[in-house]
Amino acid sequence: MKAGNDARGYGWVARAFHWSIAVLIIAAIALGLYAANLRDTAQDQIQKIFEAFSLHKTVGIAVLFLGIIRIVWMLTQKKPRHLHPERKLETFTAEVMHFGLYLGMIIMPLSGWLVHSAAPGGFARILWPFGQRLPGVPENLALSEKLAVFHEFGWWLLAAMIVLHLLGVVKHSVIDRDATLARMAGRAATLPEPPEVPEHRAVAAPLVALALWAGLAGYSALIAQPHSGTAAPATTEAPASVPAAPAVESAASTAPRPAPRHPPVPMPMPMLGRSSAERSILRSRNRVARSRAISPIGRRRSASIPRREPAMSASPSTSRA
Ligand code: HEM
Ligand code: HEM
Repeated sequence: MKAGNDARGYGWVARAFHWSIAVLIIAAIALGLYAANLRDTAQDQIQKIFEAFSLHKTVGIAVLFLGIIRIVWMLTQKKPRHLHPERKLETFTAEVMHFGLYLGMIIMPLSGWLVHSAAPGGFARILWPFGQRLPGVPENLALSEKLAVFHEFGWWLLAAMIVLHLLGVVKHSVIDRDATLARMAGRAATLPEPPEVPEHRAVAAPLVALALWAGLAGYSALIAQPHSGTAAPATTEAPASVPAAPAVESAASTAPRPAPRHPPVPMPMPMLGRSSAERSILRSRNRVARSRAISPIGRRRSASIPRREPAMSASPSTSRA
């Protein structure tokens, strides 16, 4: 078993990286969606959301570190020869997807880690003994929300690339019936050698892949700009599962109360009548608010919503009429 790649196919190191990272990325997406869509209407669900996010983050961090080592390894290796070098568009598209996926396996976990680092207050922990926050990232709710918008759009781009990648593999296996899958599955030694064509360092494919991610970053930054009447104000409200306790009841509380200027934002926030971009911002805000409301694993649930505690525990006896 050869460690390095050759003209026919991938060595065992590249294959081990490919399959382990593929499984981890798919698991990270599944866990992220599961955590983000769990209803937080019951207290015991909060612990579940929190555990799912912790697992999601830990799997994502594993992708980040494996991805960095993989890219270093890939840079020391020759790529196996193209099986159909004459099919220019197909080869180019496959290359763009490969570079886009390489970028995605760094950008996605890094953006998630930035969301996590910038979120003020408590959060679901990465399950490791090292530091939680990236150094130098300010704790800033607005920043965390903007990064969350990018993280949310990012998974769509990553998933689209994975789907195209898989469609390519299926096409090669079912229609072309060639060795594309076999050489990533470790059966390269028995395969015929692909035709030799003059090698040239293509820069167009990595540039297009980079442009896709940069375009997404620009678009996320654009729609994450707060503009009046669209996004709700940044909230420190606890999830809807926590009853909205009156902060301080006054003696005049029997009189009809005017509507609060900034009503508490229910979770999930009302999505009706909003554009998909607005819904995306609101969803991200909900999630950041929600992940902030969740205590680090191992702490008692009573400590899980520290920021709400003072308002929640305010009783009429403490009120000044
Ligand atoms: C391969 C890496 C990763 C992928 C593919 C990924 C994917 C996802 C997905 C699909 C969601 C749910 C999006 C939604 O529907 O709103 C999500 C949410 C989230 N992820 Fe990740 N993630 C990755 C790594 C990480 C890491 C390493 C962290 C933190 C250390 C992290 C932190 C978060 C947080 C805080 C949220 C909720 C915020 C939000 O986007 O609304 N993720 N992620
Ligand atoms: C689970 C289903 C998957 C299958 C069946 C699959 C299959 C393959 C095959 C057959 C190749 C070789 C293509 C060639 O020789 O031209 C390949 C390459 C590649 N795959 Fe996948 N893949 C899968 C998932 C993923 C995922 C989730 C990622 C995300 C990171 C990924 C990233 C890559 C990359 C970056 C390459 C290029 C490797 C290189 O040439 O350096 N794959 N894949």
